Amino acid sequence: MSENRALTRRALLVGVGAAGGAGAMFAAMGALGLAPDSQEKSFVPPQPSDFSLSGRAAAKVVILGGGVAGLTCAYELGKAGYDCTILEAADRVGGRNLTLRGGDRLAEMGGETQTAGFEEGTYFNAGPGRIAPWMVTMDYCRELGVPIETFVNNNASAYVYTQGMTAPIRSRTARADLYGYVAELLAKATNAGALNRRLTKDDRERLSEFLRRFGDLGPDLGYHGSTRRGFETYPGVADGVPIAGPSSLRAVLAAGTGRAITNDFGYDQATPMFQPVGGMDSIVTALVKAVGRDRIRTSTRVTGVKNLPDGVEVTHQGGTFKADYCIATLPPHLFARLPHNLGAPVTAALRTPAPVAAGKIGLEYGRRWWEIDDRIYGGITETDLDITHIWYPSYGYHSRSGLLVGYYNSDENAELYGKLPHAGRRSRALTQGKKIHGEKYRSELRSSLSIAWQRQPYIEGGWTTWPSYQGAFTLLQRPAGRVYFAGDWLTHLIAWQAGALESARRAVTDLHSRVLQATS
Ligand code: ALA
Repeated sequence: MSENRALTRRALLVGVGAAGGAGAMFAAMGALGLAPDSQEKSFVPPQPSDFSLSGRAAAKVVILGGGVAGLTCAYELGKAGYDCTILEAADRVGGRNLTLRGGDRLAEMGGETQTAGFEEGTYFNAGPGRIAPWMVTMDYCRELGVPIETFVNNNASAYVYTQGMTAPIRSRTARADLYGYVAELLAKATNAGALNRRLTKDDRERLSEFLRRFGDLGPDLGYHGSTRRGFETYPGVADGVPIAGPSSLRAVLAAGTGRAITNDFGYDQATPMFQPVGGMDSIVTALVKAVGRDRIRTSTRVTGVKNLPDGVEVTHQGGTFKADYCIATLPPHLFARLPHNLGAPVTAALRTPAPVAAGKIGLEYGRRWWEIDDRIYGGITETDLDITHIWYPSYGYHSRSGLLVGYYNSDENAELYGKLPHAGRRSRALTQGKKIHGEKYRSELRSSLSIAWQRQPYIEGGWTTWPSYQGAFTLLQRPAGRVYFAGDWLTHLIAWQAGALESARRAVTDLHSRVLQATS
């Protein structure tokens, strides 16, 4: 929205409020789609697609893998008239887009099968959990009629914890102190003439003026604490009691909390972020409905892929499947193990991206103590422990129970947790979380479930990483004969559904232009 338009709307609302009171203002807000409960009312799916394949074709396409990339290929090609079939090895679709609810079972390679004991209404996004507004995932939510809500990615009330601290500190406190001291240093250096050669006098004044605001500095350009740090007792009828501090700059730096206050600076993590209402798998459910359940064969593990002169032949547990073209959306490290006739350079390229371990644990509590006791509504506590993060739920506020993500880690930390049986993962996660939240973190737990993505059959990794975006990456952007590749792993958006979606669009666009050329 342009600033002018925003101002016009605001001016209008102020006018309505003054003339007609709160009721009239609320009605006007509703009409403008601004009422606080307007999420469902103003949600009008579907909007026309912002992606379309022009021209129609009737080729037969076999798609390997029913994750977000595979489903999207079938969805988009289906719109253009293709006859698509998805072969999925698992007994469910969605791939890493996995939401677990009470009664769901989760098997693991070489491990136990867990059954979620979550209460009705509780869900655990075991894979993707957040969407940035610029991502194409948002367009699919809009088009497919998947309602979204805010995912709180940054919460000033959440904690920052560094090993050795006697108690965690709030994110707002960490931020106030770091910004304050950095601003003080720079303001004093500027004042002392350290930047005279770089900046004009006017610029120095402008910079100092900004730094005063950035750090909430005193007239002496010193940082002496700030109400931004938060309060022991917040102001009310009586004045507030600020929390003690700040510590010295040296102590603040030694606490290492600076590492945790920059997470949402990134273009892919900046607030606001979003999640589908009711669980991330709403996207999968909507794609399956749009594609047609009858086009998806689950529990159909592919055992070989062969380019023929006039088509592709895919062998699977139940027989063979012939099609004009194939789009392979399997993880590359799994495709590399399949017998195929696509050539040794393709196998070598498929082996190039390395799978990365990633894990999460869902901890369900009968009481939303993080809201009641800690006043934390959504958001993330950042730690330097092996759990890395604790995610508080961005849904179900003030309901009786709720589910935290007790760890979300990758690489060595995920390997470490993944090697443990579930009880061991839970016990370790509780020991770590207790350092931040105290005994209730253990004593009030109702149920739990953990995932180690590297141990998920037919997936075997949280995501992949390329040594470089050249060579193998470029080779696999192109089809090998009649076999195309797609997946987040083939994009610069690895570990995002947006990568799977973007890659699917690219593969179907390439395939479609080839088919149209061949038939023209
Ligand atoms: N997309 C992943 C996340 O948000 C990496 O954490």
